[in-house]
Amino acid sequence: MPESRPIAILGGTGPAGTGLALRWARAGEAIIIGSRDSQRAQEAADKIKQKAGNQANISGMENSAACAAADLLVLTVPFEGQATLLKQVKPAIRPGSILIDATVALAAGVGGRASRTLGIWQGSSAQQAAELVPKGVSVAAAFHNLSAELLNGAEALDCDVIVCSDDPEAAKLTRSLASKIPGIRAIDGGKLENARTLEQITALLIGLNIRHKGHAGIRITGLPPEAYR
Ligand SMILES: NC(=O)c1ccc[n+]([C@@H]2O[C@H](COP(=O)([O-])OP(=O)(O)OC[C@H]3O[C@@H](n4cnc5c(N)ncnc54)[C@H](OP(=O)(O)O)[C@@H]3O)[C@@H](O)[C@H]2O)c1
Repeated sequence: MPESRPIAILGGTGPAGTGLALRWARAGEAIIIGSRDSQRAQEAADKIKQKAGNQANISGMENSAACAAADLLVLTVPFEGQATLLKQVKPAIRPGSILIDATVALAAGVGGRASRTLGIWQGSSAQQAAELVPKGVSVAAAFHNLSAELLNGAEALDCDVIVCSDDPEAAKLTRSLASKIPGIRAIDGGKLENARTLEQITALLIGLNIRHKGHAGIRITGLPPEAYR
């Protein structure tokens, strides 16, 4: 991937977005932190830069401006804000962009438990996102099963990232981004509809974290090496 292709993280001021930004910045990627508020975005970008080192290429912008400045978008907002945000930024999304959705519809968003997910008409948050982006924009689902706390740390992660998309090119690019995070193996998880399972695994992991006081992730075993390309 050319270094000039920035990654815009919408809702990048929260723990999931800052963690991914930190890891990709350390890997030499150019990052734009998106927020509903440009000043909050800039402040988050400055904090990540302090952790990643002065050579890190990180800026902060309001979400629509971030979409206009990049064609590789990552969505890390709570599910309850996903549809509104996508409708708002839709005019700014560049034709041919790739959107990587990491949102999980946790029941906690409507006063329920974080260890349960909500039913979504389309099947998953990622499929809802695919309905809301402009025609010709590809959606991939990934990064739901990574602990933001671990992402924001310095250690390598001990996790696999399963990537689902109906567009093989979007899936390949997303796997390549996942593989830039130390310790992560990326796996082709098939069609976007499989995101519903990925998203539900997060609820299970949150339940395990509460029960056992940890930062659970997943490893898939028994696949040949080519599954991790
Ligand atoms: N935390 C984890 O370990 C983890 C791991 C994997 C996946 N995820 C998923 O990734 C997403 C983000 O997780 P998070 O813990 O980083 O969430 P978060 O801190 O609650 O939210 C992230 C950012 O989204 C923006 N936001 C909040 N409400 C919004 C709304 N209604 N509309 C538009 N933007 C809104 C905020 O940024 P501004 O106020 O600056 O706009 C906030 O800083 C969630 O869907 C979560 O399920 C989380």
